[in-house]
Amino acid sequence: MSERTMLIDELRVIQQEHGYLPAAALRALSERARLPLYDIHGVASFYPHFRLTPPPAVDVRVCADMSCHLRGADELSRSLEAHLAARGLSGVVVRPVSCLGQCDRAPAGSINDVIVQDILLAKAADLPGGGSLKLYGDVGPMDKSDSTLTPVNAKLHVASLNLATTGILDPSLGLGGVADVDTTLANEGGFAQTNGTVKLSKALFVQGGSPSGVPLNVDYSTKYDLRKNSGVLNPSTIKIGSATAHLNGTYAAQGETTAVDLKVNGDGMPAKDLEAFLPAIGVHLPTGASLTAGTLSTNLNVKGPTNKLVTDGTIGLYSAKLSGFDLGSKMSAVSALTGLKTGKDLDIEKLTTNVHMAPNGLRAENFIAVVPSVGNMTGAGTLDAKNNLDFKMAATLTGGAIGAMGSAGAGVGS
Ligand code: FES
Repeated sequence: MSERTMLIDELRVIQQEHGYLPAAALRALSERARLPLYDIHGVASFYPHFRLTPPPAVDVRVCADMSCHLRGADELSRSLEAHLAARGLSGVVVRPVSCLGQCDRAPAGSINDVIVQDILLAKAADLPGGGSLKLYGDVGPMDKSDSTLTPVNAKLHVASLNLATTGILDPSLGLGGVADVDTTLANEGGFAQTNGTVKLSKALFVQGGSPSGVPLNVDYSTKYDLRKNSGVLNPSTIKIGSATAHLNGTYAAQGETTAVDLKVNGDGMPAKDLEAFLPAIGVHLPTGASLTAGTLSTNLNVKGPTNKLVTDGTIGLYSAKLSGFDLGSKMSAVSALTGLKTGKDLDIEKLTTNVHMAPNGLRAENFIAVVPSVGNMTGAGTLDAKNNLDFKMAATLTGGAIGAMGSAGAGVGS
């Protein structure tokens, strides 16, 4: 065995004992081996795995050689450093290292000299429109034959995702919203499973509407086939205040956007909890009026690319009270003829309609309203992107008079 090899073995024993090469131990070795201290120091400083200073409490190394470099080792190091800096952790050092012999699992790393097979994933990014994204967890070992089979166990937190600037909703129509997402993400056998919550604030789904004044919260679970680029939305819930609806369906990546086919069902939802959300779908209550009682039921199919959603289905409002709305005074011509008086609040026994809602407006068909103080009304009409209401209604008025109420022009919403 050469002198240099013996020296390296001695240094290795010292480092194993102390975790590094203390000056006193090197002096003792110099005397014992009858070698000049500068020779020993020269060998110790030549090999990067010998340490001349005490190691950090946690020594994270990321391989910087070619295979790992090509598989994102640089980005991984940077995101680890940013992750640690953001948490103010001291005693943890991230540094590059030469090939760890794990090239087939690149990018490879070690923590305190123990090779980590499932390397820590820690990504943080700013999003267009001011939001941020954090992804952390484990990924790997990399499946070389099919990357969709690589195991992933991660958590994703997205704050203030702007649905307009990211193109999820069409900004050219004025649509938008801000989403906060918290989800877990696991890939098993090419199927990504997610479970989490979305809080959607200031939602605006129809041109000419106004942003919702209340958040919409979704509790969801999905299973996504990474090879087919399509997934299933398992039964999930939507909540607005205490109003709860159920949601399920399918979705698929289509180029830059995602197409969905969703069913939304809600029964007996408190109408007053939904009132502040109605402007988001282009429904404005008359100025000064509010829904103080009643329940809303809905059965909708939401379909298409997320930036061009089309919704079809039925909506029903039952046993409702529209407080602060005197319909009789708004229909003065009819009132003068029939003596119609509705008072300052409007009781609605039933109001049902089929709806077709697209980003550029809303169409109602088979509209039926039973309003005890007025009578029964039937009709159909549209509410366009400029908030023009065009409804043709026929009414059987209380007391037996029958009237054609004609086009409502600016309508009851004015
Ligand atoms: S190149 Fe990184 S482990 Fe081999």
